Amino acid sequence: MQQLKVVSDSPEATDRIGWLTAGYLRPGDVLSITGELGAGKTVLVKGIAAGLDIDPAQVTSPTFSLMNEYTGRLPMYHFDAYRINRPEEWEDLGYEEYFRGEGITCVEWGNMIEEYLPRVFLEIHIEKDAVQELQRTISFLDVGGGYEKLMAKLRKEVDHAHSWD
Ligand SMILES: Nc1ncnc2c1ncn2[C@@H]1O[C@H](COP(=O)(O)OP(=O)(O)OP(=O)(O)O)[C@@H](O)[C@H]1O
Ligand SMILES: [Mg+2]
Repeated sequence: MQQLKVVSDSPEATDRIGWLTAGYLRPGDVLSITGELGAGKTVLVKGIAAGLDIDPAQVTSPTFSLMNEYTGRLPMYHFDAYRINRPEEWEDLGYEEYFRGEGITCVEWGNMIEEYLPRVFLEIHIEKDAVQELQRTISFLDVGGGYEKLMAKLRKEVDHAHSWD
């Protein structure tokens, strides 16, 4: 299975999907989280944080720092590529150290720094529903191979009526 789609019908549901995902993350995993403004990327990252035993209330989108680091069961490195104006800014962050590190890297707007992402990563795309205000389709895509197990396990955990591949 290369792709998994899950429907979320509330911020709480998205949070829970993040929490469930975190249960299957391993040291060094890299997540590129995409979707338009207000899609729910930060909501999902907070859920992931909670699943890593990080207080989600501490998690805010990185602004000046461009990256926030949190300590939980595993470290979490939270980037927001939207605020990066020039490629050099990204390079200056020393991003490779984080990608190679023992923590979990979450990059909001990862599509904006796609050329810097590792060969293997998990893309999580959040799509707003055109009609229903609280509805999102969350697509998990295993880029490069390496996240099959996570997706298979996650699929079993989410409500079957709400997922398909
Ligand atoms: N099903 C849902 N899942 C996630 N968020 C939802 C959902 N329905 C409504 N929302 C709302 O959408 C908003 C998502 O905000 P959030 O900051 O997570 O977006 P974002 O994708 O990180 O945006 P940005 O690109 O500005 O960083 C919140 O106000 C949240 O309450
Ligand atoms: Mg955000």
